[in-house]
Amino acid sequence: MSIVFSEISKEFHLYNDQISYIIQILGNGELGNLYYGKRIHHKDDFSYLLEGGLRSLAVYTKENDYFMSPQYTRMEYPDMGRGDFREPAYEIQQANGSNTSSFIYRNHRIFAGKKPLEGLPSLYVESDCEATTLEILMQDQLTGMEMTLSYTVYEKYPVIARSVRFKNKGTKPVVLNRALSASIDLPDADFEMLQLSGAWSRERHIKCRKLQQGIQGIGSRRGISSAEHNPFLLLKREQTDETHGEVYAFSFIYSGNHIEQVEVDTNDMARVSVGIHPDTFSWMLRLDEEFQTPEAVLVYTDQGMNEMSHVFHELYRTRLARGVWRDKERPVIINNWEATGAQFTEDQVLQIAQAGKELGMELFVLDDGWFGKRDDDKTGLGDWYVTNFEKLPEGIEGLAKKVEALGMKFGLWFEPEMVNKDSDLYRAHPDWLLCAPGRTPSPSRNQYVLDFSRTEVVDAVFDMMDQILSKAPISYIKWDMNRYLTECYSTDKSPQDQGKVYHQYILGVYSLYERLIQKYPEILFESCSSGGARFDPGMLYYAPQAWTSDDTDAYERVRIQYGTSLVYPVSSMGAHVSVVPNQQVGRVTPLETRGNVAMFGAFGYEMDLQCLTDEEKDIVRRQVAFFKEHRRLLQFGRFYRLQNPFTENDAAWMTVSEDQNEAVVGFYRKMGVPNGPWIRLYLQGLKENAKYIVNDQTDQSYFGSELMHAGMVVHREDLCGDGGDFCSAVYYLKKQA
Ligand code: DGJ
Repeated sequence: MSIVFSEISKEFHLYNDQISYIIQILGNGELGNLYYGKRIHHKDDFSYLLEGGLRSLAVYTKENDYFMSPQYTRMEYPDMGRGDFREPAYEIQQANGSNTSSFIYRNHRIFAGKKPLEGLPSLYVESDCEATTLEILMQDQLTGMEMTLSYTVYEKYPVIARSVRFKNKGTKPVVLNRALSASIDLPDADFEMLQLSGAWSRERHIKCRKLQQGIQGIGSRRGISSAEHNPFLLLKREQTDETHGEVYAFSFIYSGNHIEQVEVDTNDMARVSVGIHPDTFSWMLRLDEEFQTPEAVLVYTDQGMNEMSHVFHELYRTRLARGVWRDKERPVIINNWEATGAQFTEDQVLQIAQAGKELGMELFVLDDGWFGKRDDDKTGLGDWYVTNFEKLPEGIEGLAKKVEALGMKFGLWFEPEMVNKDSDLYRAHPDWLLCAPGRTPSPSRNQYVLDFSRTEVVDAVFDMMDQILSKAPISYIKWDMNRYLTECYSTDKSPQDQGKVYHQYILGVYSLYERLIQKYPEILFESCSSGGARFDPGMLYYAPQAWTSDDTDAYERVRIQYGTSLVYPVSSMGAHVSVVPNQQVGRVTPLETRGNVAMFGAFGYEMDLQCLTDEEKDIVRRQVAFFKEHRRLLQFGRFYRLQNPFTENDAAWMTVSEDQNEAVVGFYRKMGVPNGPWIRLYLQGLKENAKYIVNDQTDQSYFGSELMHAGMVVHREDLCGDGGDFCSAVYYLKKQA
């Protein structure tokens, strides 16, 4: 891995064994992109890759020089107002009203390792030899503004992490109206664009379309990353599938408003833009002030989408997630939400915990409803202490100790960013809401958003949480967030600084997370937002797992977890078994299938276990035991998608241990097929010439090559529900000694 600068050609070549990324300082001092893709041999001069020349209607950067027209050049971090005409990467409004900028190269530095981004989540290294970073300092001579473009290339991964820092070194304040984290111009547009989109209860469905001339993209203006569009997109060739072909992927380490889009110009070049959504952002930079963008992660592979996912999984699991839980097997959870809602008694929840213990579960989570006057969703948010001692006679401390006495760990639900009007907090601080002056704040789920851009608000919430955490033995926190942001105005800021509030809100969320994880490093955090509305890489930096969706129906979950697996590791996906008919879709699926889906995740149950029949209890006991036996493999193995539920009736996936000696395969059928075809699963990731035993049946063994190329035969008898609707099977493979 290296970053080489050629003094002669003024080119930076960032490369490792898998990728090359080449930037050139152009004749006028601006930066152009010469190449991004599969590794090419290094040489000192790639300048032939910069095409230019005279074209009608084109605008040029110098008089009598008809080579470089921004519109026809692959720009590295494009500006606006000077003849590019495509989507700019930044926009700086000067005091005189002009928004034309012209940044030129000043200097650069290359160093081993990677720096953290202050106050923001970002990738990290454990040793400086894992990555090399290039920082290029650019300056606008007229305004004095500086920008530092930062690129980190990892040794082991086909990854480039990009971000930008702006600094006002001029003499007057300016306003940043747009500050994207990455922009890249690709020389052709012969791609399909794939995104993870959906809504509450059907998050991260895979959507794919062919690129067309014009702008296509996704984003969020909802204040958080959202259930609607995950901060991710990829470009792939039409022939690319899970195992072959080129993929350019873009993931954004951020939990607030974001934009990911592709503009294809009428000469069929594709510009990808990734960053904070400019529609809800403007940042006044006073003299000497800085603005740091969040980080965009670029992954390139020519080995298909599964390989891309392997890169994201390993990178995000080991160089984005942090803390003691990063590499630790996650406990089997029993959560009371779907069983009781917010109305419960201590006896009731203790009985659920006790039943969980008997079935092998390890951690009981008390969900919504334990604090303030909370019996429904109209009251109590903001009052993070127990006031209803009829519900919890000895408070959280008492309940937590009783749960621990059962031999279970105890976890607790919070929704730190929210407030109900019927709460002590709102009565004491009505101005702590995000609210536009003179207007009534818009309700959602009867709740309002606290102004986390204000330090005193974050401090107050921290103090309440700290009071609880310092007294009770709490091993896990589910941090929920159940509405989008509206009237995003902060009463303690000047009119000029209101454009900062969306971003400062998220910085406030990050700062509260950071304080809590620093003070309570042993607590396992699970982020949540009405299910999976804030399942993003930013959150993973603080909470190594996230509640994937409120939709716990087995069939829907196969699709949600399959889509989520494009970017996010199995260990990050909270996945629980719940009752049927399912509370979200009313569907009835076999208990075995619900377990077979959820065990490819941070596994748990979400039901009143006492209501199970003895036969069902046996099934659950076996599921928990199987999961615990193979937990490391299921949560941290290499995950392969085998069959796609978005295009087929059957879905399948598998996970393989690092040494390739073990694997677990999951097969899921949507509708039963009358007199259907035989079923073969073409496995992946095994050793070609090792022999494997399936489900401990020692009378037969199969070479990895057989299982991968001839296929593993799925017998109808293997399927729970005898091959009917929503049937499934899980197979455990072990290499023969
Ligand atoms: C939404 C979450 O996704 C659910 O799991 C549950 O915690 C509820 N909120 C509680 O209000």
